[in-house]
Amino acid sequence: MTPTAAASTGPVSADLLAALPRYGVGVLYNAALPGFLEDSWEELDYLAVIPDRFWTDEGEGQVPRYTPVEAPTDLLDRVARRLPIVGHSVGLSIGSAEMFDDEHVRQIADWQRRYRMAWHSDHLSFLRVKGLDAHSQLAGLPIPVPYDHEVLDLLAQRVEQVQRAVPVPFLLENNVYYVDLPDQDMTEPEFLNRLMHRTGCGLLLDVHNVHCNATNHGFDPREFIHALDLTRVVEVHIAGGSDMAGMYTDSHAGPVAEPVWELLDDVVAHAPNLCAVTFEFDESYFPALKSAGVRAELRHAREVWERHH
Ligand SMILES: [Fe+2]
Repeated sequence: MTPTAAASTGPVSADLLAALPRYGVGVLYNAALPGFLEDSWEELDYLAVIPDRFWTDEGEGQVPRYTPVEAPTDLLDRVARRLPIVGHSVGLSIGSAEMFDDEHVRQIADWQRRYRMAWHSDHLSFLRVKGLDAHSQLAGLPIPVPYDHEVLDLLAQRVEQVQRAVPVPFLLENNVYYVDLPDQDMTEPEFLNRLMHRTGCGLLLDVHNVHCNATNHGFDPREFIHALDLTRVVEVHIAGGSDMAGMYTDSHAGPVAEPVWELLDDVVAHAPNLCAVTFEFDESYFPALKSAGVRAELRHAREVWERHH
């Protein structure tokens, strides 16, 4: 069942999340995957895509603002005839204090209509900062927001703005962080739960990010997961990482990290509205992973999914 425009007027109800299609297992599209997609349809229940990778942003105020990148967009049109597509954008920069890009929100709304996405997501972070010449500049990596009341107010207002523009559930993804910010008003689970309850948005729970943070900051990832309102989890990300300079990084380096499988099993068992488990890897690791390696990760994820569905 496809969610309706009921969400367009305000927070998304728990019932709307419960009505979302339970897809199963998918992969996050990257530039190494076209060949894999051609001969591996049966491994996938849906394809997750970063819409921002399919257009060139000409800059604020330009007309047209977004120019499609033709060949990948043709591929996506072909994929859409066989598989559901869900969007996972990177350009919203919902935590930027000084700006919020309405044109980007409208572009996401166009893409949701074009590919009939059942939900869409972005990151609980900021990427864009105001430059000296008043144009925004990209930080290069999503930067986590501090879990403070003031930030919660700002994000709640923006989430509701997105929900008014895009008539399907909106999810935010929990971040990875390498530096602990001092004196925050709330813990991360408290902040996420408050944001979800206040706005009705869903959670894209990246269990590799949880594993990464737990490893670097020394907490119990299961305790973290069970402090979240798991009824709000619609999609899960699984990935691998690497050790670097005494830290564990969220590098998406090939296969899923071993401890992540156990966390995934726990989440799939306890998140009643979970619809999708997405394997993400960086395209530079495809030569090592190969199609067989991607298939192996998807099959492992499917075993976990089917154990509980
Ligand atoms: Fe992720």
